[in-house]
Amino acid sequence: MAAPQRSVRCIVLTWVALHITTTEAVDRSNFKTCEQSAFCKRQRNVKPENSPYRALLNSLDVTRESVKLQLINEVNKVPLLLEVYGLRGNMTRIKINELNPLQPRYEVRDVLVREPPTVPLTVVGKDEDSVELSFENKLYKVIITSKPFRMDIMTGNELLLSINSRGLMVFEHLRKRKDSEEKEEENVENQEVKGESEAADEEAQAEKPEDTNSQKENEEKEDEAGMWEETFKTHTDSKPNGPSSVGLDFSLPGFEHVYGIPEHADNLKLKTTEGGDPYRLYNLDVFQYEIFNPMALYGAVPLLLAHNLRRTLGIFWLNAAETWVDISSNTAGKTLFGKMLDYVQGANEIPQTDVRWISESGIIDVFLLLGPSPFDVFKQYTSLTGTQALPPLFAISYHQCRWNYNDEDDVRTVDAGFDEHDIPYDVIWLDIEHTDGKRYFTWDPNKFPNPKEMLQNLASKKRKMVSIVDPHIKIDSGYKIHTTIQSRNFYIKTKDGNDYEGWCWPGSAGYPDFTNPEMRSWWASMFAYDQYEGSMDNLYTWNDMNEPSVFNGPEVTMHKDAVHMGGFEHRDVHNLYALYVQMATSDGQIQRSGGTERPFVLTRGFFAGSQRYGAVWTGDNSAEWDHLKVSVPMCLSLALAGISFCGADVGGFFKHPSPELLVRWYQAGAYQPFFRAHAHLDTPRREPWLFGDDNKLIIRTAIRERYSLLPFWYTLFYHAYRTGEPVMRAMWVQFPDDMNTFSLDDQYMLGDALLVRPVMEPSVRGIQVYLPGKGQVWYNVHSHQRHTGPQNLYEPVTIGTIPVYQRGGTVIARKERVRRSSSCMQDDPYTLYVALNGQNTAQGDLFIDDGHTFNFEKKNEYIYKKFNFVNNSLTSSTDPVGHYKTAAWIERIVILGARKPATVTIKLPDGTESNLNFEYNTETSVLTIRKPAVNIAAEWSLYIR
Ligand code: NOJ
Repeated sequence: MAAPQRSVRCIVLTWVALHITTTEAVDRSNFKTCEQSAFCKRQRNVKPENSPYRALLNSLDVTRESVKLQLINEVNKVPLLLEVYGLRGNMTRIKINELNPLQPRYEVRDVLVREPPTVPLTVVGKDEDSVELSFENKLYKVIITSKPFRMDIMTGNELLLSINSRGLMVFEHLRKRKDSEEKEEENVENQEVKGESEAADEEAQAEKPEDTNSQKENEEKEDEAGMWEETFKTHTDSKPNGPSSVGLDFSLPGFEHVYGIPEHADNLKLKTTEGGDPYRLYNLDVFQYEIFNPMALYGAVPLLLAHNLRRTLGIFWLNAAETWVDISSNTAGKTLFGKMLDYVQGANEIPQTDVRWISESGIIDVFLLLGPSPFDVFKQYTSLTGTQALPPLFAISYHQCRWNYNDEDDVRTVDAGFDEHDIPYDVIWLDIEHTDGKRYFTWDPNKFPNPKEMLQNLASKKRKMVSIVDPHIKIDSGYKIHTTIQSRNFYIKTKDGNDYEGWCWPGSAGYPDFTNPEMRSWWASMFAYDQYEGSMDNLYTWNDMNEPSVFNGPEVTMHKDAVHMGGFEHRDVHNLYALYVQMATSDGQIQRSGGTERPFVLTRGFFAGSQRYGAVWTGDNSAEWDHLKVSVPMCLSLALAGISFCGADVGGFFKHPSPELLVRWYQAGAYQPFFRAHAHLDTPRREPWLFGDDNKLIIRTAIRERYSLLPFWYTLFYHAYRTGEPVMRAMWVQFPDDMNTFSLDDQYMLGDALLVRPVMEPSVRGIQVYLPGKGQVWYNVHSHQRHTGPQNLYEPVTIGTIPVYQRGGTVIARKERVRRSSSCMQDDPYTLYVALNGQNTAQGDLFIDDGHTFNFEKKNEYIYKKFNFVNNSLTSSTDPVGHYKTAAWIERIVILGARKPATVTIKLPDGTESNLNFEYNTETSVLTIRKPAVNIAAEWSLYIR
C-alpha cells in the first residue's frame, strides 16, 4: 500500500505545483485533436459524396404523433429507424437509431423537461423518390428524399435547412468483434437481425450494392485501428462495444453567421473549422486554457444558432458523448471585396454555412428550432430544456472568493474589511482547504473549529457563505460519505466491475454515479442541516471539478469504459455528469429548507439544461487582458444556449493582475451576471482595498453600481426564468436586422435597456462603441449625454469610466443607497430612470418578491410593475395576480431627454393629485422629480405639463 500512496501524493503535488509555478499556456499534447480521436478521424475522413443511405419509402408509418420510416445503408445493409416529429411551437425533432441494435444505445435522459408536445404531421405528397410532410398548418414542410437519403425543411418556397445533403451521415452500427472464433456465430446472428426487418429485407435484398469496391472498402474498415481499442498517451480505452459513432451534416442556405455550442474560449461568431480542428464538446479540466481556439473546456451545450437578416434557427443535437462540430462556409474565404465583386458581377451564389455534428456514441436525436426570431428560438430551446432558475437576490450580488480564506480569523478580517472600506458584498467563499483533508461536507478542525459561529457572524450582517463540495470522494474507511457510497454501491465502476478510483485533490478518490437517481437523492439528503455538520441556512454550494476531473485519467478525466447505472459506459454520459452533480446539490439545498428556499449552486461543468440548477463560471482563466476580453463572448455564447447565469473569475485565476487590469475587471464583472472575484492559492492577496486608495475607490464605485442596479438585474433574471430570454444578450439578438451587430462581441445588451461596452484594453483614453438602431436614442448612464444611432461612437474614458448606455424608450429601476449587502436593501427606496426615445415614449418593468423563497411561484407573492411613459405622462400599473407587501417606496424619478415642465403632478387611484418638486438641467435635458413618495406597489400617474 505504501508505494501507491506515495505515487498518489506525487501526482497530486505535481499537479498543484504545475498550477502554482507554470506560466506556460495549455499543454496541448494532453488533449486529443480530431486526428487523435479515432471516431472523429473516421467520420471526418468521409468526404462529401453520394450518401450510402437510402430511405425505404414503403416502410412509411404515419401516426398522429410521428412519421417513421426505415433507412438502409446500401453498403452494409444495416437498417436504421428514422422518426420525425412535428413539435408544438415551430420545432421538429428527428431521431435516427438502429432498428435492431445489438443492445440498447444510450438515449439522453433528464435533459428535456418533459416529452415535447407534438403537433400532427401530415403526408401531403408522395412519389417514388420522396415524401412530403407538413406541420403547423402547412407552415413548414419536411421533404424526405429516398436515394440518397436527405431531408429538406422548407417554409413556403424558402429552403431553411437540409440534412445529409452533403452525404456525410455516418451511423456506426453496433457489432460483434470479428474474432475468428466468433465470426461464424456473428454471421448467423446478423442474418437473424436483418430478417426481423421486413421492409429492409425486401428492398435491401432486391437491390445489390452498386459499388462492390466501396463495399469491400467498407468491410475492411470493420477492423480499422481505433475501432475496438484506442490508446492516447498512456491510456488505453478498451471499447468493448466497438465503434458506435454517429454523424450528420446540416446545410444552412442563406446563413453566414452561426453561434453557440459553448463552451469554448473563443469569439461569439463561430469560425470555419476547415483546415483546423472542429469545435470540440467534451467536458474537460483544461489546465491554463488557451483562448481563441475551438478546444474543449469544462462544459458543453450542443446547441447551435444561425442568424441572418430574415430569421434565426437553432440546431439542438441531444447527445451527451464526446462531440465535434465542423463548420464550413462558402463565403469564409472571401474578402469583403470578393463579396462585393460577386454582388456587382451578379454572381448570385447564395452564402451558405454547413455544419457537421459527430458524436462518439448514442443516437441521432436532433431538434430543429425554426424561429423565426431570436426570441422564438430562445423560447423553443427553453421549452425543451427549461429556463434559468430564478436566483436568490444575494446570488446576483457581489461574491468574494479566493483559494483559500485560510481560517475563521481570515474570514472575519476580510468580512470586516468590506465594512471598513464601505464596500457592499454578499458572499464569502471557502475553497477546498476549508475541509478536513479534502473530505467534502467536513471542516478542518483546526482552521474552522466553529463554523456555525462564523456563519452566524455573517448572518448578523445579512451575508452568506459558499463552501466547495466536489464530486470526487476521498477513499477513507473513516469517512462516512465514502463508506456510505461504497456500501450502497453508488460508485461508478470500472469495466471489470470494481469501484472506479481516480486521483484528485484528496488523493485516491471514488466518483459517485450521479446518473443513478437513488444516488442523487442520497447526495441531496447530505445537505440536511443534521447531516452536513456545521452548516446553516446561509451556507450555499460550489460544485467544482465535475467534468469530472481525474488527474491521472485520460485527458484529465474519466476512462470512457467506466460503467454507470444500467450498464451504460461513461463514454455515453460523460457530458451529462456535471449537470447531474449540480442537480443533486441544488435539490439538496431545496430539501434542507423543506422546499421553501431557492438554492444557489455554482458549477464548473455543465450541459444543456444546467440553467435549471444555478450558475456557471468560466473556470481557470488568467490575469491577462485577453482573458478579460474573452469573458464577454464566453458568457454571451452560454446565454444564447440558455445559461444566463454566467461569470468569469474577476481579476483572473492564475497570475497576478496589475492594478489597472484588476480595476477594469471589476468594472466589467459588475456588468456580468455572476460577479465573483477569485484567485489561485499561490497569488498575492487581492481584496479590493489592497491596491491603493484610488483604485479601491474605483472598484468600490463599480461594485456599488452593481448594487444600485440589482432591481434591474433581478427583473431580467425573472424574465429569463419566465420566458427563456437571455439576461446578457449579443447585440444581434436585440438588433437582428442590423448586420453591423452580427460579429460584435466586445459590447452587449443587458435586457433590452442597457448597452455595455466595458473597457478591456490597457492604457486607453477612449473606446469605440457601436450604437445601433436607425433614429435610436442612447443615453450615457453617467453623463446622461444623448446620442443617436446608428453610429460608431468614440467615447473618451478615464480609469474610472464604465461605458454604459440606456436605450431611449426604456425605464429601469435602481436602488441608490449604499448598504452592506443586498438583503439590507430589501426595503430601500427606488429611483426610476425613464429614458425617452425620439417619440418621447418609454416602457419598462420591475419584478419584486422576498428575494429568496419559492413563494413568488407557489403563492403569487410578488409584485410585477409596468411603467409606461406616453403623452408626457408616466403611469405605473401592477399585475393584479401578484400580491406582496413591501415598505419600499419611490424616492426619485429621473427622466432623460425631457423638456422643461411648468408643473409635475402625481395622481393616485383615489383621485388625489399633488404637485411634486423637480429640478431641470437644461444642459443635459434631465428632469429629476423628487419624492413622489408612493409605495412601489402603488398605481399612479405622473403628469408633466
Ligand atoms: C479548480 C477551480 O477551477 C478553481 O476555481 C478552484 O480554486 C480550484 N479548483 C481549487 O478548488
